[in-house]
Amino acid sequence: MVEVGQRHASTLPIGLGPPAPVPSTPMDGYERHTYGEAFADVYDDWYRGVSDVAATVALLAELAGDGSVLELGVGTGRLAIPLALAGNRVVGVDASPAMLERLCAADHDGRVEVIEGDMVAALPDGPFELAFVAYNTIFNLTGDGEQQRCFEAVAARLTPGGRFVVEAFVPDDPPRRGADVSIRTLAADRVVLLVSRHDADHQTAEGQFVELTDGAPVRLRPWSIRYATPAQLDAMAAAAGLHVEVRYEDVDRTPFDPDGSPRHVTVYRRDQP
Ligand SMILES: C[S@@+](CC[C@H](N)C(=O)[O-])C[C@H]1O[C@@H](n2cnc3c(N)ncnc32)[C@H](O)[C@@H]1O
Repeated sequence: MVEVGQRHASTLPIGLGPPAPVPSTPMDGYERHTYGEAFADVYDDWYRGVSDVAATVALLAELAGDGSVLELGVGTGRLAIPLALAGNRVVGVDASPAMLERLCAADHDGRVEVIEGDMVAALPDGPFELAFVAYNTIFNLTGDGEQQRCFEAVAARLTPGGRFVVEAFVPDDPPRRGADVSIRTLAADRVVLLVSRHDADHQTAEGQFVELTDGAPVRLRPWSIRYATPAQLDAMAAAAGLHVEVRYEDVDRTPFDPDGSPRHVTVYRRDQP
């Protein structure tokens, strides 16, 4: 997943000139399964260190108790497999068959229940004590109102008092505009470029990792996100009957600083009837 927050970005603009008008629609041909299909073969390698898995599992297991857990956009099972191994029943939903194939290959005992489908429209009935969406995955929902519908779909599947944990970056303020090219990897025979464009008015960003390897075909890995501030996520949650129980900067429970934290881990709790 790509992060567009200036507080934690490391892009090196290399002279694309003044920002051009940016179309607000997703790039041609991009669908909900596109990200997973494009990144499945490199996901574990590229994103192994993006967060502390042991601390994440400890936090989620504590919140879930001995209850059932639902992960939205489960991917290769980076978090779901260790959580299931820790003893919880875990159901993971993902739109990408290639991502789920990786998960199933790594989940030797078949502990994670997987559902191939959309993390809004294809959620299982539940009820779940805990649901979570990690590593900016909520921002993969780019359609109008889709993130709101996600909060509603999750809330409807939580037990009374159940929790929904959202981990995401805090968008830049002011937001990034225009287009960038930056270098992700540079080697003697290989370069991976990140080409991105940013539409601050629609809070969207999209791009391609362009992988150029000497003597091999070009490989493209597209991504598209619609980001939201913590306050915007809180408003969606409130409309779905969820309130903020606690917000950390990270899974190590570092206190969240509204003026400086580059990301947040927010625990929403379903209102009691
Ligand atoms: C950034 S990865 C996160 C994977 C995993 N949760 C982790 O933390 O490593 C995002 C995942 O969400 C999936 N995804 C994106 N849009 C989706 C959608 N609308 N419904 C279900 N899964 C989706 C992708 O296929 C991908 O596996």
